[in-house]
Amino acid sequence: MEPTATVQRKKRILSGIQPSGTPTLGNYIGAMRNWKMLADEYDCFYMIADLHTITVRQEPAKLRAQSTQMLALLLAIGLDPEQNVLFFQSHVHQHAEMAWLLNCFTYMGEMSRMTQFKDKSAKHADNINCGLFTYPVLMAGDILLYQADLVPVGADQTQHLEICRDIANRFNGLYSNVFTIPEGYYPKLGARVMSLQEPTRKMSKSDPDDSFIGLLDTPDVVRRKMRRAVTDSETEIRYDPENKPGVSNLLSIYCALTGESMDNVVASFSSKGYGDLKNAVADVIIDTLSPIQTEFHRYMADKSYLESVWRTGAERASRIAERTLSKAMKKIGFVAK
Ligand code: TRP
Repeated sequence: MEPTATVQRKKRILSGIQPSGTPTLGNYIGAMRNWKMLADEYDCFYMIADLHTITVRQEPAKLRAQSTQMLALLLAIGLDPEQNVLFFQSHVHQHAEMAWLLNCFTYMGEMSRMTQFKDKSAKHADNINCGLFTYPVLMAGDILLYQADLVPVGADQTQHLEICRDIANRFNGLYSNVFTIPEGYYPKLGARVMSLQEPTRKMSKSDPDDSFIGLLDTPDVVRRKMRRAVTDSETEIRYDPENKPGVSNLLSIYCALTGESMDNVVASFSSKGYGDLKNAVADVIIDTLSPIQTEFHRYMADKSYLESVWRTGAERASRIAERTLSKAMKKIGFVAK
């Protein structure tokens, strides 16, 4: 019998992160720290979604600084730029072009139903621009350009992934199979980190400063935010997210960062008070963030290295993006160059 010579292509992962401020500890625990481990098994693309960011008004200098910082952070959390394709969305012009094509295959009604659009237009009532409305189409293009099999997304993006699949299926139905239909990727290890001030809500960088830990927060800031973290009027340390959301959140941060089991952790705090718990959580956060911050500052001091990373990333990304874009354009009926 013939040996099977086909080497299976690794499945491809694409994810995007907006450079709108420093990511939080929640982004790190829920998503970013898993990215490093995916590189062996998957073909990974991580895109800094700067085009998405301008759906909300941005200050130019700040956008530029935050975008560069985001790249340095991706490197600092351990993403190897050889193994992973790291790039800025705005450096690969095919994203904007694909978004235009897909806009013509997406219905107003579909976009009006998007909960994020409804939330954001309520929040930015003075700037409900068309980009905000078609944001999910740009995101669909991001994913489809790379023929991604899997997309790691948080709960707030599942609706966008769903619409991406609908658009892709619609296009494929009209023109034969152009796009891979992506699926969500949900890491097993993804603990959900809640706000330190309102622990029934997800930790978010758009909430007041004291309610989240930023990946670049200094040890002093981490300790201060921990001291102020909301708990409850009891004294017992136990994991009970429903009745004790604040304490439970601190416990799950502790578990997520140490890898210890909840039972062991709760037992080890059995004779201790909330102050001890807060100190211990602050310690493990600082231990986690310190090496990342050291690396971050090292990368930020080496602009020419960062530049070489983003250039290489854009070249690798655009080669693949161009293949998909020209295929789609040909199917639609545009005259070939
Ligand atoms: N919209 C995503 C967010 O705000 C970021 C994003 C842009 C993205 N393009 C993507 C995520 C493609 C996954 C895949 O979180």
